[in-house]
Amino acid sequence: MNDPAAFAGKAVERLRAEIPGRAIVAASGGIDSTAAALLTERALGGRARAVFVDTGLLREGEVDRVGALFRASGVVYDVVRAADRFLGALSGVSDPEEKRRRIGEQFIRLFEEEADRFGADRLVQGTIAPDWIESGGELRSTIKTHHNVGGVPKETRLTLVEPLRDLYKDEVRALARHLGIPEPDRQPFPGPGLAVRVDGPISAERVRRARVANAIVEEEVERAVAANEMPRPWQYFAVLLGTRTVGVTGDNRVLGEAVSVRIVDSVDAMTATAASPPRAVLGRIAERITRDLAGEVVRVLYDITDKPPATIEWE
Ligand code: XMP
Repeated sequence: MNDPAAFAGKAVERLRAEIPGRAIVAASGGIDSTAAALLTERALGGRARAVFVDTGLLREGEVDRVGALFRASGVVYDVVRAADRFLGALSGVSDPEEKRRRIGEQFIRLFEEEADRFGADRLVQGTIAPDWIESGGELRSTIKTHHNVGGVPKETRLTLVEPLRDLYKDEVRALARHLGIPEPDRQPFPGPGLAVRVDGPISAERVRRARVANAIVEEEVERAVAANEMPRPWQYFAVLLGTRTVGVTGDNRVLGEAVSVRIVDSVDAMTATAASPPRAVLGRIAERITRDLAGEVVRVLYDITDKPPATIEWE
């Protein structure tokens, strides 16, 4: 895609041709689905409605942040609060592919209910090229089944429409800039949310720990970028590891959890390089995580692996 304006014009025409009735748009507040929502609403007007789901797996403050983003971008949306439903379906699940399958299933059932309410038979998703490339199928091997591709159950009465499926992230960012979406260069956040940043079994408690650690990494990196201590990385987050490890508080031995900090540079997420943040930034992150999660997280690691051989997320 060389020309975002031409792409947007064609996508709107195609959406009009493809959707004779009503559609809902799965909107996470990320760049991809926000661009998909704007194109769909441009194409269909009042026949389209974006649906944002609070899965209970979102980052600190995300519901408010996404609401502000949609209002600034002009996306018309509904919020569905479904934390109990998602956490219930995921409770005790450890396998990353099983997590994505269950999340995909919950999303689709919920979108079916919303579509019935709105009288829609189409579901628009912001799927982009790396999502389906990495999800495999036919001759490709599966790297991870992105929740919005392989995680979508086969039997759904909704017809999927994916206007961005041939674009890479850098192209979606150019499109988002053209559409007037604020902060088109902000870091991606995976659709399955903190579920894939909790290595091992999911529980509300472990999701909370991952949320606290993530917020600290984001705050410290953004503060360091603003202070010119480091360039803005492509993605920066924390993962709660599935390992028990020994720490010490005062005179007492504590058996706690460990967090891995992941900061990477990339262009299109297909490959990535582990960033080299200043030691002082990492030190502040470790200090705050072990203080705010005292007795729960006793060790913080920095992940120095590129993609390949690792992937960006741990799961
Ligand atoms: P990986 O971990 O495969 O990630 O190197 C590449 C990019 O995709 C994001 N990611 C996902 N996004 N659903 C999504 O919407 C998923 O299941 C998923 N898994 C990974 C990841 O954050 C990175 O930006």
